[in-house]
Amino acid sequence: MYPVLFVKLTIIGTGYVGLVTGACFASKGNQVICLDNNQEKIQKLKMGEIPFYEPKLEQLVLTSYKNGNLKFTLNQQEAVEFADIIFLCLPTPPKEDGSSDLSFVLKVSEEIATFFNSHKTVVTKSTVPVGTCDLIREIISKNTKQKFSVVSNPEFLREGKAVDDFNNPDRVVIGASSQTQASPVFELYREFLFDDSKILVMDTKSSELSKYAANAFLATKLAFINEIANISTVLGSNVDQIARVMGMDERIGNQFLKPGLGFGGSCFPKDLLSLLQTSKQAGYEFKLLKATIEGNLRQIEIFYTTIQEYFLKSGKSKRIGVWGLTFKANTDDLRESPAVKLVIKLLQNGFQIKAYDPKGMQNFKMLYPQYAHILQTDKYRCLENSEALVIATEWQDFAKADLNKIRKQFQIKVIFDGRNLMDLKSVQSLGLEYFSIGRSL
Ligand code: UGA
Repeated sequence: MYPVLFVKLTIIGTGYVGLVTGACFASKGNQVICLDNNQEKIQKLKMGEIPFYEPKLEQLVLTSYKNGNLKFTLNQQEAVEFADIIFLCLPTPPKEDGSSDLSFVLKVSEEIATFFNSHKTVVTKSTVPVGTCDLIREIISKNTKQKFSVVSNPEFLREGKAVDDFNNPDRVVIGASSQTQASPVFELYREFLFDDSKILVMDTKSSELSKYAANAFLATKLAFINEIANISTVLGSNVDQIARVMGMDERIGNQFLKPGLGFGGSCFPKDLLSLLQTSKQAGYEFKLLKATIEGNLRQIEIFYTTIQEYFLKSGKSKRIGVWGLTFKANTDDLRESPAVKLVIKLLQNGFQIKAYDPKGMQNFKMLYPQYAHILQTDKYRCLENSEALVIATEWQDFAKADLNKIRKQFQIKVIFDGRNLMDLKSVQSLGLEYFSIGRSL
């Protein structure tokens, strides 16, 4: 065993990545300050309130906050002077052309450099295009005389499973210009991975690109199974069976083979566009990535068309109950959510919608106040006076729904299951119409 050295860390940015990083490092005994420029967020955190929903995070934050290992502040100077290692967990939203907006990362790098009072290791955890570490290094060197190093450490956690992912990572990637510069970050992660061979040290450019490569590959895998689902619908085969066959081949693996309404969230759509733009700027046309992005956009259109055609043919009134608003289950995040895109498209095309989501309704109200009236207090209320049920997010609570109640009490005539959540055999016995992704009754 290696001796455990507790380190002073500052985490800049208290979003999904920053807060999870801070809480997990603090839980191992490190002293952590989380810095944010959002007063309301910091106030909430100081009162023990987590600004978003993420399973297991609240308990983790509260424990370390109470024992003093985790602190929250708005004071940049205090946070920077305190730390040996500073993690940048800041947003890198897409610009109009799809490239990443680095203004937050670069501005903060400039600001913090002026407060360096000793050697600092600055770590980029935000997903940043290749070359960003070099840019940060340049900016910091112009604003401090202290010694420092800049290290890339992309984060691979998933929303909804972020704490588990951080505590049990498949691998940790550290990009640095030397082993010595990587070493402080390497030591930190030894507490999480007892197998050093899972901590991969490399140059910063490879580290930066590895994150995009992983996300782009997963998104492409998903886009591929969605294409297979679409062909299955046409040919009358069952994509679930096909995914089982594919997934049992170890070279393919069984994850990311669940077809649906396409990928959303704060990462895949943004990261794919950014990688496409990086490739373009480097003079390389990444054709496969383009196809993945286009295929993903088409996925919603195909589902919408199925709904629209049903109502055109049946002549029924366009009243639909929608289950699910978040981009996937176990989060309250609506960013780039296919479910929200679908709901808005339905509303704009004259459908009367009632919607319910276990965690996403507060954000929906905030982001789309003009549509707040569609929200219902529970999943069954959504179905009152509705002809159809649309399942747009794969919450387990929806999978457990009482199908007889749906059919008999609410007289739902048709289900459009955008997540293949319902068991085909159970639906079959109900005698209602059922459309899913790549499976037919
Ligand atoms: C993704 C990556 O999985 C993380 O490794 C990465 O760290 C993160 O982005 C990031 O870059 O920060 P996340 O956005 O939380 O994590 O979401 P995923 O669980 O990967 O799901 C992405 C999308 O694919 C969701 O819309 C989900 O519904 C969809 N999906 C996923 C499917 O439709 N089917 C599947 O089989 C898997």
